Amino acid sequence: MESKLLSRKEFLSNSAKYAAGITAGMGALGLLTRNKAGAGIKTAEWPWGYVELDPEEARIRGHAGYWTGLGCSYGAFHAIISMLAEEIGEPYTLIPTEFLEWGRGGGWGWGTLCGGLIGALTAINLCWDKEKASKLGNELLGWYTIVEFPSDIGNQYAAEHKFTDNRCDIELTQTVAGSPLCHISVSNWCDKSRKKRTSTERSERCARLTGDVAAYAAQIMNDELKNQFQPLYETEESVKYCMGCHGPGMIDDTIGKMECIQCHGDHTGNFTSAEKVEDFSPTYKLYQNYPNPFNPSTTIRFSLPKAETVTLAVYDIHGRLVKNIINYEQYHAGSFEVTWDGKNNAGQPVSSGAYFARLYAGPHIESMKLKLVK
Ligand code: HEC
Ligand code: HEC
Repeated sequence: MESKLLSRKEFLSNSAKYAAGITAGMGALGLLTRNKAGAGIKTAEWPWGYVELDPEEARIRGHAGYWTGLGCSYGAFHAIISMLAEEIGEPYTLIPTEFLEWGRGGGWGWGTLCGGLIGALTAINLCWDKEKASKLGNELLGWYTIVEFPSDIGNQYAAEHKFTDNRCDIELTQTVAGSPLCHISVSNWCDKSRKKRTSTERSERCARLTGDVAAYAAQIMNDELKNQFQPLYETEESVKYCMGCHGPGMIDDTIGKMECIQCHGDHTGNFTSAEKVEDFSPTYKLYQNYPNPFNPSTTIRFSLPKAETVTLAVYDIHGRLVKNIINYEQYHAGSFEVTWDGKNNAGQPVSSGAYFARLYAGPHIESMKLKLVK
């Protein structure tokens, strides 16, 4: 703490100490060097290096950092940097980690990149050179899109009161964001859990997530240190496919590695849930499923006179959502068929009885009754 209050003059007058070199995992760092751009301005030589950290301690600090009131981005950054400050000392002790607060809510609440990611990626980038930081950063971003938050460990720590801040110890709904964007990650979770954005549960969810992100960042940096790093994440097939045309060398009109279909649907028809069975249709229509009654699965057919964004879901007789079959996917005109396997969103077979399927296709909404008989 004290070192944060060092004046600029004191900081510079300490340069002899840096010049003596502070050994850390990566060796040569801690040196003050002349900034190439600014004449005479001295900065600590980058990267600053890394020593093995305990990912579980990072998880606990990330969670606690979130609840200081400074939020997710600070939480993840502070978790890693505070541990490195203890292990390595300067220059890590000189960073006022609070400056990362700007990243909360994906940048002062703008919902862009998840703040936990902003914090952890910034920490990684202080520790490693460009080649390693980009490799580890790519993994952290991709991993974030495919795992459940909060993690089982996060839920378990809360239940066992292992976090330092125990203001909510219930088991929280877990969701896979499918996106590194705060907006999508938080909105999906609120939708699934039926909790409000301003609820304590949602804050606690993001606190546990912050811990999860800090822990994974520490884990992959430990692996890198031991030359054991293996990425879990591989670029999504659909991204490779879409970028095959929209990437460099072809149309070359976009940038990104985020799952394209989540926002755009698929104008090529290769990644949609329903299969095209006819090219044209004069009207909108949701047909009676067949077989009906059914057990265990049934086919649902719908037609579109023009291209539309389609949602198709099954509800029970009380109107409660049972299964999302098609979610905001883009379809061209034509007739399409999709199978419902008689399971709910949790993957469990539903009980015998009457259900409704509802089709939303642009302005057109239509329902149809189905019957499951076991
Ligand atoms: C076979 C090549 C090809 C593939 C694969 C492809 N596209 Fe396209 N896409 C095009 C062409 C050609 C256009 C029209 C370009 C133009 O008008 O400049 C287009 C247009 C678009 C547009 C602009 C809006 C529109 O509808 O006109 C979006 C968005 C888009 N594609 C997204 C995707 C996504 C998402 C995927 C992956 C599911 C994808 N594309 C796969 C060739 C392709
Ligand atoms: C988080 C949502 C999101 C994701 C993910 C996303 N896009 Fe986009 N994309 C947009 C938005 C919003 C626009 C601007 C749309 C507009 O102005 O019509 C856009 C624009 C485009 C355009 C130009 C559209 C036009 O009207 O000509 C193309 C092409 C495109 N995206 C392709 C892709 C591809 C390929 C991917 C996957 C690598 C992808 N997008 C991922 C939201 C997204």
